[in-house]
Amino acid sequence: MRVAAVGDVHCKKTSTGAFQGLFTAMAAAADVIVLCGDLTDLGLAEEARVLAKELSAAKTIPVVAVLGNHDYESGETDQVIGILTDAGVTLLDGDALEIDGVGFAGVKGLGGGFGQRALQPWGEDIMKRFVRETVDEALKLESALARLRTPQRVAILHYSPIQATVEGEPPELYPFLGSSRLEEPLNRYEVAAVFHGHAHRGALEGRTRAGVPVYNVCLPLLRVLDPDRPPVRIVEIAASPAPASASSAPPVPADRAEEAPGSRLPSQVE
Ligand SMILES: [Fe+2]
Ligand SMILES: [Fe+2]
Repeated sequence: MRVAAVGDVHCKKTSTGAFQGLFTAMAAAADVIVLCGDLTDLGLAEEARVLAKELSAAKTIPVVAVLGNHDYESGETDQVIGILTDAGVTLLDGDALEIDGVGFAGVKGLGGGFGQRALQPWGEDIMKRFVRETVDEALKLESALARLRTPQRVAILHYSPIQATVEGEPPELYPFLGSSRLEEPLNRYEVAAVFHGHAHRGALEGRTRAGVPVYNVCLPLLRVLDPDRPPVRIVEIAASPAPASASSAPPVPADRAEEAPGSRLPSQVE
């Protein structure tokens, strides 16, 4: 299965025509389109309507998405969800979805920081509530992954589960770009590939401690770091996990997800 992923399209009222070419090309090159949040710029219903029209170019294949922080900005999130759902987008918020034998689990996620610097639930109530919210997102991700019975699982997030794909951003922002708490379920359930957005000035690729490949598919980042190719990442998910070699030491999780040959589309389409 070829998964074409992009995040942070930040669709505006004025974006009519801006993404049709990209979505058409994604639908032609892949079996599933994944959208990693910040679907709209200000979380407006009107922006969602524009995006729904743009996505009509991709009607031939499933579109799976999570929301991002921008989609919550204007208090119209329920309308945004309704409009995109009516347009055929499957929005995941702790949900699991199976497509052609591959499982998809999605949550928005939240911040909190990484590793030893991660925010702890200590002191003021508001700090405890912030950490609690991130833990809840991680638990939603875990239960979604647990519900999938497919041999291969793909995780979709808006916030990053690892530090490596936010590096490039100002370090002061790291706590607001993702959380290590989101990483644990990905390792436990041996996810084949993780897609996220949100870190507009981060890095394109990283790995979890267990070697799960993590792709930051933020559209503005793809545009800056690889300006000669369309802003999309295409990853091929094998039908089943690669068997561990008898002679080699630990199995290499990277074998579970391999970037498809010509993994960006061949020419600029937008
Ligand atoms: Fe964004
Ligand atoms: Fe964001």
